[in-house]
Amino acid sequence: MAEQLWKGRFSKAVDARVNDFNSSIRFDQRMVRQDINGSMAHATMLGEQGIIPEEDREAILTGLQEILADLDSGALTIDPTAEDIHTFIEQTLTARIGDAGKRLHTGRSRNDQVALDIRLTLRDETAGLTEQILALIEALCAQAEKNKESVMPGYTHLQRAQPVTMGHQLMAYVWMLLRDCGRLQDAVARMMRDCPLGSGALAGTTYPLDRELTAQLLGFDGPCPNSLDGVSDRDFCIEIAAALSICMMHLSRLSEEIILWSSWEFKFIELDDAFTTGSSIMPQKKNPDVTELIRGKTGRVYGDLNTLLVMMKGLSLAYDKDMQEDKEAMWDAIDTLSLCLRTLTPMLATMTTLPDNMRAAAARGFINATDCADYLTKKGMPFRDAYKLTGAMVSDCLGAGKTLEQLSLEEFRAYSPLFAPDIYQAIDLLTCCEGRASYGGPSRASVQAQIDAARARVAALRAEADGDEADDAGDGPDPQQD
Ligand code: ARG
Repeated sequence: MAEQLWKGRFSKAVDARVNDFNSSIRFDQRMVRQDINGSMAHATMLGEQGIIPEEDREAILTGLQEILADLDSGALTIDPTAEDIHTFIEQTLTARIGDAGKRLHTGRSRNDQVALDIRLTLRDETAGLTEQILALIEALCAQAEKNKESVMPGYTHLQRAQPVTMGHQLMAYVWMLLRDCGRLQDAVARMMRDCPLGSGALAGTTYPLDRELTAQLLGFDGPCPNSLDGVSDRDFCIEIAAALSICMMHLSRLSEEIILWSSWEFKFIELDDAFTTGSSIMPQKKNPDVTELIRGKTGRVYGDLNTLLVMMKGLSLAYDKDMQEDKEAMWDAIDTLSLCLRTLTPMLATMTTLPDNMRAAAARGFINATDCADYLTKKGMPFRDAYKLTGAMVSDCLGAGKTLEQLSLEEFRAYSPLFAPDIYQAIDLLTCCEGRASYGGPSRASVQAQIDAARARVAALRAEADGDEADDAGDGPDPQQD
């Protein structure tokens, strides 16, 4: 085990089991770039304020750049016995540049350091996740565009209810996923408002730090107004984990649709062989394992959110070691969502829709019964009577094993003389969809308008993300952005 930074006070070596238990290097090495970026901003500010000599600042900045380059090239590997990533970087720097390295931690604590690192890491990693969600949205829009006329039953209570199209149904998920992107964006914007660096261990510091400068260098709106709050809250982790949980909930519902639609009972879609698995005993099976795993893993991300909520609920101010648990929960939630998106997107892009089967199911479900009643109402029959009469017709059809559109004109007219040949057009399933031209409804024009609007939103979100990156890059020593 490398030497602890805090060893001075102790007369006895710490038990190896405690060292292992305490160490976070296994999971906090994921923040190595952000840790180095934070240290570069801190050193820049210390030099600017005359807290450390100019030449020490230069030595620190060059040393940290070199550490980063060596990590990238593989010339330097992270010591798995170090206590944490902060210790490892500081000790490596000091081993390379001597006393200047020992000045880096002036006016700083690992408590504000870790509070900073996790924010920067979450900012960077949620940007990647958002891009993955946008790719899924694009795949859904492409399928929706191909299936604007694929009439299928819309369901309530999983009972056939009214006609929709596959395009309409897929676009419903697009709007959910766009809100997920918005939630992540909001949470990150709030997280990046207040920079914790300069909070020290909990009570600030006696050095004349310029907290505005470090906040600006690192892409925050400004410094956090209260040092105790800066080092001790993890509400931003909880918010992001909640956004990820909600996104998983949406993926899980979409997965459930895919599972139903690919079953023989529905057969609205056929999954590509490359995205299904077989059974070791039943040769006919083609299982939608991917979507079942997504449904299963949703519970795991909810677990991560719960870990964070429970971890925080009993902690008095300020930093407590319990908070070290934040990272593993966050990484697990991020990695799980990312893994699901990486598989679900190509699975949806390659699935084949089967419009004939959808239409057959739609025809068998009397989902045009409302339209038949509306036809009579428009010809003058009071709606309640029309509703009753259509109910009787459906009941007779069920007995005769027929659908409404299979009745002859004579049969229709036996129910009411108001029926004319245009009834067939009125209850045609595509007509029924097209008739629902209200804003947000299943008509082709409405679904196309949704696709266009969603694509514009995707482009806007991408442009905002690019803008943010450009802003950060212009802000100062931030090798991560180079
Ligand atoms: N590994 C610690 C964490 O992740 C870093 C902060 C350590 N601070 C301390 N006072 N022991 O929370």
